[in-house]
Amino acid sequence: MTPPSKPVSKGGSSSLAAKPPSASFVEMTQLVLPSHTNAIGTIFGGTVMSWIDIAAAIAAGRHARKVVVTASIDALHFVAPVKKGYVVHIQASVNYAWRTSMEVGVKVTSEHPLTGERLHTATAYTTFVALDDNGRPTPVPPVLPESAEEKRRYAEAQKRREARMRLAADLKGGE
Ligand SMILES: CC(C)(COP(=O)(O)OP(=O)(O)OC[C@H]1O[C@@H](n2cnc3c(N)ncnc32)[C@H](O)[C@@H]1OP(=O)(O)O)[C@@H](O)C(=O)NCCC(=O)NCCS
Repeated sequence: MTPPSKPVSKGGSSSLAAKPPSASFVEMTQLVLPSHTNAIGTIFGGTVMSWIDIAAAIAAGRHARKVVVTASIDALHFVAPVKKGYVVHIQASVNYAWRTSMEVGVKVTSEHPLTGERLHTATAYTTFVALDDNGRPTPVPPVLPESAEEKRRYAEAQKRREARMRLAADLKGGE
């Protein structure tokens, strides 16, 4: 017998079955090599941005099971430097899915190679859009948050989307 489909979130208008963020969670681990660093021996921001984009793209692709592209990356703040020889963990999960776009949250932490101490390095919120075979935006499954943490991220993602849309409308109005 086919199990009943899970309830869908309000964010999606498609008939695609909802998926929890855990279904697309990604953890990427990198070692900071000399080629990743700047003149003072700490990690180059562009390297971290590239890792963020890759981890987020994998999470969005797992959620949608379609080709996805980066539509935008919100403000990215580096809160602590990471030195050569440290281990970097990049964790990404889909916070919310609208019709064809998804917000993917990415958390970056550094790990001291000898003590194991972990420090928060950066957080980023990215938006990915799924594309069909003609390269046009196509519907994605809704997100079904399960844990308290997932529910918090789900609620916050809606507020960030509203803020993005308000800003876009304000900027357009001022043209
Ligand atoms: C992202 C892209 C596919 C959107 O195409 P579009 O024709 O503007 O599509 P639409 O206006 O129909 O919007 C489609 C969805 O994208 C979202 N979107 C579009 N631009 C966005 C942006 N800058 N930030 C966040 N979301 C965006 C819309 O909100 C909409 O979401 P929804 O369907 O969930 O409501 C298109 O702009 C594109 O191809 N950009 C280049 C992507 C790329 O090359 N990325 C790699 C960069 S190095």
